Amino acid sequence: MIDRFKQIQLKFKYLVGSLFYLSYAPKAFLYTRKRDIIERQFTLAPTEEGFEKPGKLLRAEPKSTGANFYFELAELEVSFLAEDLVRIDWKPGIPPIPYGIVRHEWQEVETQLAQTGSNYSVSSRELKVIIEVDGSLKFLDNSGQILREELPPQSKGEGWIHQAQLRPEEHIYGLGERASSLNLRAAKDEQQQSKIYRMWNYDAAGKYTPGADPMYLCIPVYLGFHSSGSYLIFYENSFDANFTFAETATANFTGGALRYYFITGSPAQLLERYTELTGRAPLPPRWALGYHQSKWGYRTEQAVREEAKAFQFHNIPLSAIHLDIDCQVGNRAFTIDPERFPQLASFTQELAELGVQFIAILNPGIKYSRDSNLFLEGQILDGFCKLPNGELVVAPVWPGWCVFPDFTNPKVRRWWSRQYAYLLDVGVAGFWHDMNEPAAFIISGDRSLPKVTQHFMEGRGGDHREAHNVYGLLQAEAGYESLRQYRSEQRPFIVSRAGWAGLQRYAWTWTGDVECSWRALRQTISTIVGLGLSGIPYSGPDIGGFQGNPGGELYLRWFQMSTFLTFCRTHSSNNVEHRTPWTYGEPYLSIIRSFLQLRYRLLPYFYTLSWEATQKGYPPVRPVFWSASDNAALWDVEDAFLLGDALLVCPIVEAGADSRSVILPPGCWYNFWDDTVIENQQQVHLQAPLDRIPLLVKAGSILPMAEGKQLTLHIYPPVQDTSVSQLYSDAGDGYGASRLDQFQITQSANGLEITWQEQGDYPFPYTSVQLHLHGMKLQQAWVDDAEVSFEGQKLQCDRFGKVRLEALSVTV
Ligand code: GLC
Repeated sequence: MIDRFKQIQLKFKYLVGSLFYLSYAPKAFLYTRKRDIIERQFTLAPTEEGFEKPGKLLRAEPKSTGANFYFELAELEVSFLAEDLVRIDWKPGIPPIPYGIVRHEWQEVETQLAQTGSNYSVSSRELKVIIEVDGSLKFLDNSGQILREELPPQSKGEGWIHQAQLRPEEHIYGLGERASSLNLRAAKDEQQQSKIYRMWNYDAAGKYTPGADPMYLCIPVYLGFHSSGSYLIFYENSFDANFTFAETATANFTGGALRYYFITGSPAQLLERYTELTGRAPLPPRWALGYHQSKWGYRTEQAVREEAKAFQFHNIPLSAIHLDIDCQVGNRAFTIDPERFPQLASFTQELAELGVQFIAILNPGIKYSRDSNLFLEGQILDGFCKLPNGELVVAPVWPGWCVFPDFTNPKVRRWWSRQYAYLLDVGVAGFWHDMNEPAAFIISGDRSLPKVTQHFMEGRGGDHREAHNVYGLLQAEAGYESLRQYRSEQRPFIVSRAGWAGLQRYAWTWTGDVECSWRALRQTISTIVGLGLSGIPYSGPDIGGFQGNPGGELYLRWFQMSTFLTFCRTHSSNNVEHRTPWTYGEPYLSIIRSFLQLRYRLLPYFYTLSWEATQKGYPPVRPVFWSASDNAALWDVEDAFLLGDALLVCPIVEAGADSRSVILPPGCWYNFWDDTVIENQQQVHLQAPLDRIPLLVKAGSILPMAEGKQLTLHIYPPVQDTSVSQLYSDAGDGYGASRLDQFQITQSANGLEITWQEQGDYPFPYTSVQLHLHGMKLQQAWVDDAEVSFEGQKLQCDRFGKVRLEALSVTV
């Protein structure tokens, strides 16, 4: 009876939600027609003719960090920015506005220009570029191994086709957010042809099944791995493009300049350099690494209050609640309905006292109405996107007919930045930027603004073909600058659906309106790992999927995976069952609780990984091949991921599964749940009853975990000679003092020695420290040379300089 009632309720909800979507159909229809007319009316035929090949190389000239090469029809500039990083510019072409780039000044690199027959080469100590007479290029490492062979570029009208020969075994990763296989080259389309990856930020709503393309956040960066090494290519070109990876890697850009960067090295080195070039993610506020609850459907203060209290009641940790467009007035940006949220400032305070932050959604489209102050202000600034004839671009989004701020204009970014101020004043802790591809509702064709839409482009002018992909990035920049300026004591928290190279400097992302299915859960792993390899360290899915009702098992498995992702948030659509950790009752609730409690205990580890991302650009969530990238057996593993170097996370992605096989990186691993040791095995089969997923710890790690003020250092021997683990701490927000605790473990004949080094001014935040030794039986222990007692495998101690543990190997 209850089930029947619930089913009817759900159907009704679905119907109401669907009617809500349908109510936009007439506007979408009108806009689609208008857009088609506009595109026909204003699109100009390409004027530039282009060439099939650059012609013959005529001469070369050295320059301070590289050389210029003059071909019959083109020029090539090779500039070394670092020993392992070279920039290639094929001209002619209008140089890009460096929205993706943060580092402009580099130390001079000594380079040599040499001639061999009709070919030239330019080399640094690490890297050599061979320029052949027809414009083909080869990139070699310092041992002479060829890493990449490029064909002469082809210029077509305003665009470029750029190709490189791929090795048979070569694997390709990256391109930002992709709903594809982790190795992008492996995916085929319906005709079994190599999949085409489009570079065009796109609202994938309703179409987000595995294989969908393009997605919300495209970045023209990819990594190549083959038997001679690995490299990264980043095209600094924001125009629409198609990428394919068959026998050749082809990048087909519809416009812009052919400027790209080539980097060599291991995955860690590639990400370090790439994020030096495009920027690193700043340290988030620590609370952001906790659990976030979201729902399109918290319409009132009371609903949010009840939700936060229910978390307390169920004893489930919660760090933030996200409010969707239905908390706004008419779905309008920068509004929160004062009737339904009458005392916002005291309400956000009340939530903060429960440890819960209030996050508000924001869409860039501004209601096209004289009743909208934002519309009037933007008009006074002349800040909205227009057509070539000066008319405003008007398209439907959630508030109805909307106009779109031109974020390529610094004045507009400054104006936008000011809008956050009063929401910050009433305690809104962070912002969720949605629909910022920018998305518009359509019946057919592209879900965005007309391509002929004009943009300021920092004064040089341009159109939507160039501005589209950087739109979300620039909105995020405006938001980030706002939070830095108006709430300078706290760190910004912004989540952005769209973006481009460099988004990591300003925002996190989530993977959008993913379908609610097992295959989508599996897909999420590759999507998140691929984002990390594209420089975006903070991302996560709507746990359980956006559209649909997952049922207890799927939600739980999705949750277990997300426990180990940087952004851990449940979110769902307005036409589905209300979804929270307790929705499916027991045993799901208790298991979710224990996973979340584990995540919160692991926060010192997560936070240290965040700090590492600020220093090195490494994504906390990494492919399994991260530290063993010469091991080709790992290149296709897309059903597991590493969290930092210490944890290997193996989610369950099949209905009914209670075990799974795991492909392991070399070395010795511990089963987190029972300490069994797996040594030098390539593949194992592990149990995964509903209350666990296989989780392995790398031998040699120290896993810091905390409960309140007690820090437990979980020690996993053996160690190859010595190994160092770090622990970063600070106040959790703001820009004050910090500290780094470094633990060095050394294996000795009959045990281990651990030394502790401290750096930084922040006081040690724990009142007690426990050492928990795994895999060895503790016999005797000394802290700073005084013998101490212990209980089982655990040793309670204070801060120390050196600990000596005499222990017997039980398992290894
Ligand atoms: C978009 C977002 C989704 C949000 C919805 C309503 O579909 O991707 O997360 O709930 O808009 O704002």
